[in-house]
Amino acid sequence: KESDIEHDAGDKGQYRHYMLKEIHEQPDAIANTLEGRLGEQKLNLDNLGKEGLDILSKTKAVQIVACGTSYHGAMVARYWFEELAGIPCRVEIASEFRYRKFFVPDNCLFVTISQSGETADTLAALQLAKEQGYMASLSICNVPGSSMVRESDMALMTRAGAEIGVASTKAFTTQLTALLMLVTAVGRHTGMTEAQEAEIVKALRELPHHIKDTLTLSDDIEAMAEDFAHKHHSLFLGRGTQYPIAMEGALKLKEISYIHAEAYAAGELKHGPLALIDDDMPVIVVAPNNDLLEKLKSNMEEVRARGGQLYVFADRDSRVNEAEGMKVLPVDQVPEIVAPILYTIPLQLLSYFVAIIKGTDVDQPRNLAKSVTVE
Ligand code: AGP
Repeated sequence: KESDIEHDAGDKGQYRHYMLKEIHEQPDAIANTLEGRLGEQKLNLDNLGKEGLDILSKTKAVQIVACGTSYHGAMVARYWFEELAGIPCRVEIASEFRYRKFFVPDNCLFVTISQSGETADTLAALQLAKEQGYMASLSICNVPGSSMVRESDMALMTRAGAEIGVASTKAFTTQLTALLMLVTAVGRHTGMTEAQEAEIVKALRELPHHIKDTLTLSDDIEAMAEDFAHKHHSLFLGRGTQYPIAMEGALKLKEISYIHAEAYAAGELKHGPLALIDDDMPVIVVAPNNDLLEKLKSNMEEVRARGGQLYVFADRDSRVNEAEGMKVLPVDQVPEIVAPILYTIPLQLLSYFVAIIKGTDVDQPRNLAKSVTVE
């Protein structure tokens, strides 16, 4: 069975750390996630089986629970389920799930997202959900045969291959890839047009190529990392589906370089965090060229006017130009739907190179474990 295929860990090859190897594996990892699942114009998720596809065709609401980086994937998926599939989607941190008394709508699919499939908090939430009348459970997971795969009604495997670095990289971008396919497989029954599905299929097919391009920013990002070496705090900003990506960037920096980092929805800056801005508080902005960019540009002016140093990842056509106090790194122009996946890449590289400068144990950061099997 698909969910029983083991992926070998391999070794670091020519890479200094597993994390760097896994960052660079992402074009191939995402190609693996997509393998056999992209038709010319349509997705092909037949490997979910007739019963699985039948459940997706009936899904009218979704509840997602996850932890850490996987929770950031859930936050991106919420925007997609609501915007593309037009159905309500709630997300909750797995360890908080037990304190919520969610009303369970009819035909609600319970989704867990977990690289390891062994995270105790997420497994505990899945057990609770089984008593609460969800239509079915589906796990987005990277480890065949893991507890979560075994205990869910269905599994959509990310096929990233073994991820050794504690900091999740290829597991996250393949989770987002699998989630976008799941949203599409549900959305085709809740009003998504064939043309929309064809656009998503095309964007996914071209994604590995754009990720390969973005990885060529590595040297520029390594140079940028120097600015963070002696900083103690940083702020990550994003809007819409890039807000969870800002959260992911902040988590990456925290967990491997031990620099405090916080993510904010960019529109929230003036409601408080702006008071933090000075030249000791670098601000990283994920700014794809979309209709939110004009708003983001005004946020960036607020930061610059207060002496803040801005680091902006923007797509080449977004007319965000370098200026005093603002460094801009150009990212490939991609369909907005896959921008969250692409913009994760430079943030992973930034955290990696800052950690190298700080001399931390990149693959095994202090106090952390690859799979948190205690609640
Ligand atoms: C992310 O870099 C961390 N390794 C951590 O937040 C991780 O995402 C979290 O513990 C969830 O793990 P899982 O995906 O295996 O459930």
